[in-house]
Amino acid sequence: MKAAVLKQFGSPLAIETLPEPALGTGEVIVDVMASRVLAYANAVLSGERKYLLELPVVPGAGAIGRVRATGPDATHLVKGDWVYCDPTIRSRDDAQSPDIILQGLTAADQKALPLQRYFHDGAWAEQMRLPTENAIRIGNIAEADAARWCAMGTLLVPHGGFLAAQLQAGETVLVNGATGGFGSAAVAVALGMGAACVIATGRNEKALADLARRLGPRVRTVAMRGEEQDDRKRILQAAPGPIDCVLDILPPAANAIQVRTAIMAVRPYGRVVLMGGVGMLGGADLDLPYPWMMRNCITLRGQWMYPPHAALLMAGLIRAGLVDLNQFEVTSFALDDANAAVANAARDSGPFRMTVIEPPKSR
Ligand SMILES: NC(=O)c1ccc[n+]([C@@H]2O[C@H](COP(=O)([O-])OP(=O)(O)OC[C@H]3O[C@@H](n4cnc5c(N)ncnc54)[C@H](OP(=O)(O)O)[C@@H]3O)[C@@H](O)[C@H]2O)c1
Repeated sequence: MKAAVLKQFGSPLAIETLPEPALGTGEVIVDVMASRVLAYANAVLSGERKYLLELPVVPGAGAIGRVRATGPDATHLVKGDWVYCDPTIRSRDDAQSPDIILQGLTAADQKALPLQRYFHDGAWAEQMRLPTENAIRIGNIAEADAARWCAMGTLLVPHGGFLAAQLQAGETVLVNGATGGFGSAAVAVALGMGAACVIATGRNEKALADLARRLGPRVRTVAMRGEEQDDRKRILQAAPGPIDCVLDILPPAANAIQVRTAIMAVRPYGRVVLMGGVGMLGGADLDLPYPWMMRNCITLRGQWMYPPHAALLMAGLIRAGLVDLNQFEVTSFALDDANAAVANAARDSGPFRMTVIEPPKSR
């Protein structure tokens, strides 16, 4: 089968013919129909992001595909089913604290490497092998829509955060970093889950105005100016009432004060979810007042990715029209042009923009 292979960090992907993956028990083989290219894929493939990824590897985290073959223990999946290939693979030998890898992207830490060695290759290939539970049926879709359904990979990240925060319909949400790729998706997901109001923060006023225009009157925007007290005051003024839940999804380039500005806008007994990359490339860490957290009964939690059942719920939100895939502008590349796809994803990033690789559909 044809695949894009990364042999060395910083070298271009080689388009090669690899042996087809062999099926084991507890696994499925999927024909990859489309796979999203992250905006920062170039920084991962160059080694700049320092992701734990052993080489050579077929990159590509997640895909929309069709089941080609199932193992003997599959009881629901059948050949031809349309599935979301969830790259979040959890070790099966510790139900309480599983190690996590993102297939074709990174391992959480050294402990998770055996899992990455086994479920090694990602989605930038004609076929991929994944744990049975990671192939999640999305119902029938038109083949032409496969690329657009890759937006699930973006939408599911903040969805995981809101599920962790137990977001309730009718609540007020603050999305910090709302003008980014994941942040803008967070605004759309919160609205889809029934948030009464979403406060969207960012420095880019044009991007904020676009968000409000796209997503309607339940979105209120606040331009961040880098003055903690003043920024927070304007967040609170923009909110129609107490802020129930804060989701931070700022990138590594942002600083911890930008995060604290948002966190401390949450109401007493409120919930805060940290999902961004602040601190991952160094810099000062979060400095939160202990008494404020204690006296106000604040819940603060981190969240990497989303629980296994989230993809089913997201497919439901999409099918119900509560989350609109048509918001996404998709640019597709053939597998042969994987390097051009990576370059395009970096250049053409931002709210509701998505670059996708579509392997040949020869079956
Ligand atoms: N937890 C998870 O499961 C998970 C999964 C995937 C990704 N992530 C993380 O999510 C984060 C966001 O990803 P993304 O692709 O949406 O990021 P992005 O588009 O690069 O950045 C998001 C926004 O951050 C704002 N920003 C604020 N301060 C900034 C600064 N000092 N430098 C640069 N930008 C700044 C920018 O908007 P303004 O210019 O308008 O301020 C930008 O649009 C990343 O760190 C990524 O690692 C987490």
